[in-house]
Amino acid sequence: MLKNNLISILDISVEQQIELFTLADQGERLFSEYHHALDGKVLGSLFFQPSTRTQFSFQSAFVRLGGQYIGCSDIKETRSGAPYYEPICDMGTVISNYCDIIVMRTIDDLQTGQLAQGISVPLISAGSGNVEHPTQALTDLYTIQKTLGCLTNHEILIVGTPRQRTINSFIKGLSAWGKNHFHILCQDGIEVPTAVKENLRASKITYYHTWDEVWAAGIADQITIVYMDKIFNETHRSNDFVPVKQDFISHISPDAIILHPLPRTAELPYFIDSLRGANYFRQAKNGLYVRTALFLKYLLL
Ligand code: NCD
Repeated sequence: MLKNNLISILDISVEQQIELFTLADQGERLFSEYHHALDGKVLGSLFFQPSTRTQFSFQSAFVRLGGQYIGCSDIKETRSGAPYYEPICDMGTVISNYCDIIVMRTIDDLQTGQLAQGISVPLISAGSGNVEHPTQALTDLYTIQKTLGCLTNHEILIVGTPRQRTINSFIKGLSAWGKNHFHILCQDGIEVPTAVKENLRASKITYYHTWDEVWAAGIADQITIVYMDKIFNETHRSNDFVPVKQDFISHISPDAIILHPLPRTAELPYFIDSLRGANYFRQAKNGLYVRTALFLKYLLL
């Protein structure tokens, strides 16, 4: 049974993740076996920032387990918006009376902690600011475990700005499992936040700033995972940092898996969809099973 709030990927131990993944392995069978498991339960669904996969998979999971959800998608629909700006922690205290568990996404990462101070039911972060996105990381790790069979000793190529919540939680989460090597292709001058660096443990990071540098390092055939995400021009310099090159992809092992939390923008060209390693839509589907397993672990098992 899970009790702690899930705000950081480090709030859930590796042992708890193993139990979660074992449950998620049941896939669609979860919905027949636990069809009425959450009868009478109510989810508080607060998505104060847009969401497709995370919001709908959480809601779908809860409904398929027999529960129902309440919520809104704009803080202005609550009294924590203008003109009263009710403290977020008061909102948490009050909403706790109306639901059994809360899922919340915010643009301002501080709001997640503020809500947590007031609540008396579990809180799962569905993404807080640009800091963490724990359930996306669980989905990523589960997809790796399921396709490659282990979560250690990987050579991972991350293509994307390494200061976004998805990548932060992914690196922290994977590092908690053991030794992995992150090769990060991003703009010169951009690095992972200190809070991520401090949680690398036995893992390490190597930075690259152009595809040519990645190429010259001779790592193409060692890569087991390509993790792509959005690229923000944070340095406001024009540069040669371009979306995936077809020639690079053709050199990485066909057994390497390609992940992306989605939504895609220009960094993920459509030609990748037809590659054997492309796993991002499966990853999004796995998100449903992981979130279903989470609700079961919080409210039933
Ligand atoms: C996120 C989104 O939709 O905003 N993707 C996801 O949850 N799968 C990406 C993000 O958190 O920025």
